[in-house]
Amino acid sequence: MFHWLEKNPFFFASAISIVISFAGLIEIVPNFSKAARPLVDLKPRTVLELAGKEVYKKDNCIACHSQLIRPFKSETDRYGKYSLSGEYAYDRPFLWGSKRTGPDLHRVGNYRTTDWHEAHMKNPSKIVPGSIMPAYKHQFTNVADIETAYAEAVTVRNVFHTPYGPEFKSGKAAWEAHKPKVLADAKKIADEMQDEGVKKMVAEGKVPEIVALIAYLNSLK
Ligand code: HEC
Repeated sequence: MFHWLEKNPFFFASAISIVISFAGLIEIVPNFSKAARPLVDLKPRTVLELAGKEVYKKDNCIACHSQLIRPFKSETDRYGKYSLSGEYAYDRPFLWGSKRTGPDLHRVGNYRTTDWHEAHMKNPSKIVPGSIMPAYKHQFTNVADIETAYAEAVTVRNVFHTPYGPEFKSGKAAWEAHKPKVLADAKKIADEMQDEGVKKMVAEGKVPEIVALIAYLNSLK
């Protein structure tokens, strides 16, 4: 019945690609509708933490740090429980990384503190002699973009149904209503820090990048 098709290389090639693409579609397309499976008690990041995640991406910490503890004894002894896929369900994008120049940071919130990060980010080799990690002094004066972080939360709520509350709506009014919460979170971090410039900025309603970054690092548990 299909002899004519087999004798025509063009149609035959086209028919093969149609069959293969169809099989491909059947395998791949349904996966797009699959929801991520978060761990039972997983909470989405706060807006301040999201802003800190942006700083982490922008300053390219992923160039030296992974966030994925492998199930090896050497890693679980050092960092704690190995990472589970459900822990990343709300991370878009995830920041697993693959370069392990520095330590893994997936649970760094369990054993480092705000004041430790402050001193370390300002001058790593002063805290860890011989450290090759660069200093990130600009983070103490640059302002983090908390409004865009809020918009990100609203977007993932709308598009991926990430469980942010119904108060996460687009529009200026909703943002203005949420902003005091972000500033309060920022103040909590700034209160644990030494840097006077940072405290002053937060008091003026601006969030320095370092504050958002530390909030993010503290949330990695
Ligand atoms: C050039 C590579 C490099 C880059 C880029 C880098 N780090 Fe590091 N980091 C290191 C190294 C090496 C260490 C281990 C020595 C030390 O503690 O300073 C380290 C240590 C750390 C630690 C301590 C972890 C622990 O378990 O003690 C934290 C936290 C950290 N880095 C955060 C960051 C953040 C946040 C950024 C991005 C703003 C960043 N690092 C960028 C190389 C890097």
